[in-house]
Amino acid sequence: MKSSALTSLAIGALHVVTALRFTNPNFNNITIGKPLNITWDDASGPVSLTLVKGGTPALFATVGTLASDLTATSYLWTPSSSLLRDTYDIVFRDSSNSVHSFQFELVNAPISVTTTSAASVAAAAPTYTTTFMYPNYANGAGA
Ligand SMILES: *[C@@H]1O[C@H](CO)[C@@H](O)[C@H](O)[C@H]1NC(C)=O
Ligand SMILES: *[C@@H]1O[C@H](CO)[C@@H](O)[C@H](O)[C@H]1NC(C)=O
Repeated sequence: MKSSALTSLAIGALHVVTALRFTNPNFNNITIGKPLNITWDDASGPVSLTLVKGGTPALFATVGTLASDLTATSYLWTPSSSLLRDTYDIVFRDSSNSVHSFQFELVNAPISVTTTSAASVAAAAPTYTTTFMYPNYANGAGA
């Protein structure tokens, strides 16, 4: 009895492992202009990566598609200087699943469009509202 329960537990765990998952150990120090090697595994079919922002799922807004139809297991992403400071995460999608990365903040991203490059930043991101909801773990306290 006990061993069959353990067996089905193990099969359940195995099933989770074979679904699409990102394999970056952390999403710390993601910096404007600095390439980040995004990695994942166990995709079924081509993968697309979408950047979303917002502190909580209810506030998530799609910023844009980073890449789609990826058949490799990594993608080198360089965060654009037109992105404002916010809480972001990346949605991985394959033919059957969608998985969110850890949330992260962009290091060196401008807080608002009040700098000298305000015009170009505003042109690139005209619809953003600045709602700051920083989770404490973004500074390294958590995973
Ligand atoms: C992130 O950057 C800070 C400041 O440069 C540094 O102290 C910290 O070790 C970095 N963390 C990681 C995970 O690279
Ligand atoms: C990204 O990481 C993957 C897995 O470690 C590696 O195969 C790939 O060469 C890396 N890409 C770059 C551009 O560093």
